[in-house]
Amino acid sequence: MAWNKALLICSLVATVATKPLDVDCTHRQDFQTVRGCCSYPTLRFEQFRKQCGRYMPTGSPKVSPCLYECIFNATNILKDSLPDSANTRAMLETLLGNNQDFVEAYLDGMMNCSDTVQDMMKHRRPRHSGGTDYCSPVAVFYGICTQKYVFNNCPSSSWSGSESCEMARLENLNCPSARQSRGARAAIRNL
Ligand SMILES: *[C@@H]1O[C@H](CO)[C@@H](O)[C@H](O)[C@H]1NC(C)=O
Ligand SMILES: *[C@@H]1O[C@H](CO)[C@@H](O)[C@H](O)[C@H]1NC(C)=O
Repeated sequence: MAWNKALLICSLVATVATKPLDVDCTHRQDFQTVRGCCSYPTLRFEQFRKQCGRYMPTGSPKVSPCLYECIFNATNILKDSLPDSANTRAMLETLLGNNQDFVEAYLDGMMNCSDTVQDMMKHRRPRHSGGTDYCSPVAVFYGICTQKYVFNNCPSSSWSGSESCEMARLENLNCPSARQSRGARAAIRNL
């Protein structure tokens, strides 16, 4: 009897873990809704003004391939095209300050993003030529992928936990087509 019950619970848990029944992978997320799900700390780009100020327009810095590449260069992030863990931690501590939960989440994200970044490079749209500052998007792709990872692994004290946020996270984790785009589009606003 107890054995049967345990089996039943096991198989229910297994079902839920593989794919929650109520996740609708065709659902389009409204990114105003998911925007507040994880209270990301503000990234302190100012810390890199000395080396990378030319890529920071006045006012708040914006997401740009050159700014990200400049910061990656200044902190020696990529070794043989892969993030170096110690240097990445140092960069994150500069960007995030004393915010250990987020430093760990971003670090795991960076270390987990190499395959995704390669994939993004393969599928990126050709750029319009003519710009004077041409930078590789690799660094900014790491930024996008990592923000997404941190969305899905947001430190619990910073996660809103509302129903729409939980749903967004389930969709990110369970819908293959959502992996590249969803949380990332929301997250990119925070970059
Ligand atoms: C970063 O370093 C690479 C390799 O040395 C260089 O080609 C690129 O121009 C640098 N990017 C920036 C924004 O300084
Ligand atoms: C990827 O993230 C997990 C946590 O979700 C972490 O335990 C693991 O070390 C990371 N992978 C790499 C290659 O760092």
